[in-house]
Amino acid sequence: MRIGVFDSGLGGLAIARAIMTRLPEYDYLYLGDTKRLPYGGRSQETIHEFVGQALGYLFENDCHLVILACNTASAESLRKSQQEYLPKNYPGRNVLGVIIPTAEVATGSGGKVGVLATQSTVDSDAYGREIRKQDPDARVIQVPAPLLVPLIENDGFKYIDAVVEDYLAPLIREQIDVIVLGCTHYCLVKDQVRGRTSAQVISQDEIVPEKLACYLRRHPEHERELGRSGERLYHVTDLTSGYRKFARTICGEDLPLETVTL
Ligand code: DGL
Repeated sequence: MRIGVFDSGLGGLAIARAIMTRLPEYDYLYLGDTKRLPYGGRSQETIHEFVGQALGYLFENDCHLVILACNTASAESLRKSQQEYLPKNYPGRNVLGVIIPTAEVATGSGGKVGVLATQSTVDSDAYGREIRKQDPDARVIQVPAPLLVPLIENDGFKYIDAVVEDYLAPLIREQIDVIVLGCTHYCLVKDQVRGRTSAQVISQDEIVPEKLACYLRRHPEHERELGRSGERLYHVTDLTSGYRKFARTICGEDLPLETVTL
């Protein structure tokens, strides 16, 4: 069976590809809901509905384990999916998010933690809750960064510096110790962020693969279900020349993207 990696769009490819590099032996199915991107400004109910459809698709397509690479989906829907959807529909399989592993790394060095994320992720306070659970003394400052996803999606990298500077300003003023890039797409601008701050910058493409490797070591009952032919499938719900180009920007090669219906 496969490892499914879900994102609202193609930004999650940065995390998926890093996982595939770290754990190349397994079979993967990436699903990007490009037709309904962005999730980041939507309500919790809508996000949960979309995530349920995506999980249904991935589990029906032979995924044993699904990683919600999308922070917005993890923030709004992970717990409900694990506690209600999975036991009812696919007992024995599992879905993992990216917020808990990221919070674990963010609290390792203590102090003030800044989080850049979508509006919906910030509103959910999922990072605030998880970080305070790991370290009750941590101070968490969350900044919504809604312009970054459309700029990154539309090849607007030449405008990124000014926008990043603006979003970072409140965190730099607070002399933040750690900055979490709490959105799939922000992995793609980690260098621009690092160039503007001496704080530790956490980019999920650099931490999620190792966390997944640890999880698989600790859970042989899931690991032994996974196929090992190195297969890679890339499914999207809408495909345009812009999406093909964006996937190439992230992965450095043309991907065999296939359009599917959820
Ligand atoms: N994938 C989303 C996330 O990680 C960002 C894009 C969106 O808003 O759908 O939060």
